[in-house]
Amino acid sequence: EVWNPSGRYRVISTKPMPGTRWIKLLTDQDCRVEICTEQKTILSVEDILALIGTKCDGVIGQLTEDWGDVLFSALKRAGGTAFSNMAVGYNNVDVDAATKNGIAVGNTPGVLTETTAELAASLSLAAARRIVEADQFMRAGLYDGWLPHLFVGNLLKGQTVGVIGAGRIGSAYARMMIEGFKMNLIYYDLYQATRLEKFVTAYGQFLKANGEQPVTWKRAATMEDVLREADVISLHPILDKTTYHLINKERLAIMKKEAVLVNCSRGPVVHEVDLVEHLRANPMFRVGLDVFEDEPYMKPGLAEMKNAVVVPHIASASKWTREGMATLAALNVLGKIKGYPVWHNPNL
Ligand code: DGY
Repeated sequence: EVWNPSGRYRVISTKPMPGTRWIKLLTDQDCRVEICTEQKTILSVEDILALIGTKCDGVIGQLTEDWGDVLFSALKRAGGTAFSNMAVGYNNVDVDAATKNGIAVGNTPGVLTETTAELAASLSLAAARRIVEADQFMRAGLYDGWLPHLFVGNLLKGQTVGVIGAGRIGSAYARMMIEGFKMNLIYYDLYQATRLEKFVTAYGQFLKANGEQPVTWKRAATMEDVLREADVISLHPILDKTTYHLINKERLAIMKKEAVLVNCSRGPVVHEVDLVEHLRANPMFRVGLDVFEDEPYMKPGLAEMKNAVVVPHIASASKWTREGMATLAALNVLGKIKGYPVWHNPNL
């Protein structure tokens, strides 16, 4: 699909993206926009090389693609200077290789913060209250009357929410769980989440002033403290060498037997084989997963686990957010091509 065929700058999007605002932004600024409508979901390096061709100024790519030296040097040879992921995470991008080839890398933070936090909150509830399991039970025609012990789950109010990685998304999630369900907070982050701490303090005072039990917060000295103490734990780190398999057999073992673990960050943060084993051995332990180690696949056994709620990497999937991500990705590429500020750019 081609927009503004006579545009001076050739910008490729490796996927159709929601909305048309991003296309207009580019075409209004003398860009020819080419959108790859290839049916296969994940494009290979070879597919993208063919798209780049011999003249290309910038590319908007997706988190499923492997952006390393091969693609960045091809983009450089084609006269390109700009690449943006349509995602906040950029673990699929070799930023050093981009820098070496003089390509600016962009990502799309901000517009997906609340959306992602909302999904983490949804998965927390779905897992704690066994919503998917109960839904399947209903649809299978198994419900034959109310029972005192039918699908008994965990009450969140007054329990402790644990956040590992209290950046933008982790903090937004924490606020939702604290304000929505009056949970206490324990978090682990290399940086102090000052605004989050202030929020919990103020909210605790508000509750107290209204005769309610105040909520509390604690910044944990170690991640293990969060794992040991929290009832619901949500993972929000970036994926890099230091967070790969952060949650493994040993760390699962120190969590409460009835804890809920949520992952909306990146699949490889959790050792999925260890997780399946843990779910099998601990039926009261529950997980809500948006991301998987080898997407689009799940490790053997996970799909059969009743104590797992699994969704296909949809944390940022609201119309507003996805249109915003597309727009920011376009602005990143346009910024570099035209010499305007790049919205967000970790390298050049
Ligand atoms: C991201 O942006 O990194 C998400 O995984 C997709 O929204």
